[in-house]
Amino acid sequence: MTRRAVAIGVGHYLPERVVPNAEFEKTLDTTSEWIKSRSGIERRHFAAPGQNTSDLAAHAANAALDMAGLNGNDVDAIVVATSTADLTFPSAATMVQAKIGNTKGYAFDIQAVCAGFAFALTNANALIVSGQADRVLVIGAETFSRLLDWDDRGTCVLFGDGAGAIVLKAEEQSGTNEDRGVLTAHLHSDGRYKEKLYVDGGPGSTSTVGHVRMEGREVFRHAVVNIAEAIEEALAATGFTADDIDWFVPHQANKRILDATAKRIGLAPEKVVITVGEQGNTSAASVPLALDAAVKDGRIKRGDLVLLEAMGGGFTWGSALVRW
Ligand code: UT7
Repeated sequence: MTRRAVAIGVGHYLPERVVPNAEFEKTLDTTSEWIKSRSGIERRHFAAPGQNTSDLAAHAANAALDMAGLNGNDVDAIVVATSTADLTFPSAATMVQAKIGNTKGYAFDIQAVCAGFAFALTNANALIVSGQADRVLVIGAETFSRLLDWDDRGTCVLFGDGAGAIVLKAEEQSGTNEDRGVLTAHLHSDGRYKEKLYVDGGPGSTSTVGHVRMEGREVFRHAVVNIAEAIEEALAATGFTADDIDWFVPHQANKRILDATAKRIGLAPEKVVITVGEQGNTSAASVPLALDAAVKDGRIKRGDLVLLEAMGGGFTWGSALVRW
């Protein structure tokens, strides 16, 4: 028998305010059509003043706990993937812990920017498989709008705010590829690429928050190659082929990256879950937001083989195969 981390609940939260591309035409030398054709993005949600990452995360967490039939105090650990915690410290995760009424568990943040959910899921899986925890809440939550330079048309049109969450539970399974739960997970980083995508401020350097800086074309190029390699690693580790994948739930940075990745690994376009058009790039929140959308609309069903991947600043990237 093998201990597996099985997803038993998923939830999301998107702030009320929806900002269509046309808004940016008022202040920037850009067009709605440029944004849509180069990224696939048509609109995004922005958090209200005073609404912080831990607020979004707590909403998503409560929705995932509801689906799992659990209360906040039923989880042993809370892992929040975010680069936009409310404060420099304490972690967003401890704030979520208080908001969902958990006192028995422990909570911590994981910082791997847009790859954050892959890192959080992999580490939560390790907590469960090792016997350290039986139930873990894994959340991706961001208010990236707080990091944007509204004069930089190359970045500010791309990002959005939101949160997604899943609840993982330990289950004894047979130890085969037919098991439910996280079947394999693979993480990578390469710190030599810091300059390609970073925020130009922080508590330990400038004492400011800073703004997102990105060499978009370079990040795009690396993303397709790195993501495809991480996916091939997950397939090789399990012996599955692209044809075995029921649903591909990628990080939602750019529809052209999703199309290019699916093509590169030989995956049918209709298996790709795409939310970037309505949400923009929500960084660590994008994978659980897309997962939630596909579970709630009935596409992802119990027993389906789901491929996840993400890539972000650092560079950081990873993949996972999960049987739902
Ligand atoms: O989630 C973390 C990972 N992030 C990503 O994966 C993002 C990766 N990068 C991308 O998604 C794309 O590179 C972008 C959407 C950011 C840009 O698309 P692109 O096709 O790579 O365009 P580009 O950066 O090569 O820029 C093409 C032109 C440039 O003008 P010149 O130099 O050719 O005259 C830009 O200045 O488009 C210009 N441009 C814009 N024009 C209108 C850049 N931003 C805009 C804009 N509106 N908002």
